[in-house]
Amino acid sequence: MPTVEIVPSVLPADFSRLGEEAVALEKAGVDRIQWDVMDGNFVPNLTFGPDVIGAVRPHVSVPFEAHLMVNNPDELLPRYVEAGCEWILVHAESTLHLHRTLARVADCGGRAAVALNPSTPAEAVRNVLDLVEMVLVMTVNPGFGGQAYIATMEPKVAEVASMVAASGRDIDIQVDGGIGPSTVAGAAAAGANVLVAGSALYKDPEGLEHAVSDLRERAEAAYQRPAA
Ligand code: DX5
Repeated sequence: MPTVEIVPSVLPADFSRLGEEAVALEKAGVDRIQWDVMDGNFVPNLTFGPDVIGAVRPHVSVPFEAHLMVNNPDELLPRYVEAGCEWILVHAESTLHLHRTLARVADCGGRAAVALNPSTPAEAVRNVLDLVEMVLVMTVNPGFGGQAYIATMEPKVAEVASMVAASGRDIDIQVDGGIGPSTVAGAAAAGANVLVAGSALYKDPEGLEHAVSDLRERAEAAYQRPAA
């Protein structure tokens, strides 16, 4: 069964000091760093190009993942792999040919993941589970940090966990959006083992290290997956 991983979103970080912020996250014990890539079209916000991520890459050794909240990701995704993102997360809603786009991630040397917006059914990933190492179930509508957790996504996480168990594949299940001390247990109990958090980590008055370890402890206490 996949182990629990804590992955920060850098959306709440100080964008004028991204290198230092990445170093602080690595010191705090995170397992990976997620870059929320937004194009102003797929979501009403604009964030990191590959060169920004590439500039931070040499400062830390922790793996990077690019959460591509962009339309038509095929052309852009190789540049995020080249910038140093080991994982590429593609939204099922962002490409007409999801199967081909996910295969392209592997062709470019990346580790592929598929992401689902809240209104997209779990069934959308059934026919691409053989192409991915992770499924992301969004627990907010993408575009901004600091939003409220959508608890009605927990049955969808459980449905994805059942599909993954039936596939016999070792696939991570990630949740992203509104994850914090009061919501992480519900997501982990539904089957999520990769927890993405932004504002909850940066709001912790005891600092990043405490926030990461507290979230990890809460997730590990609740995490479960259905038997194959
Ligand atoms: C939404 C973003 C956010 C971010 C985490 O597009 O993907 O979910 O990563 O934000 P918080 O943890 O502040 O909800």
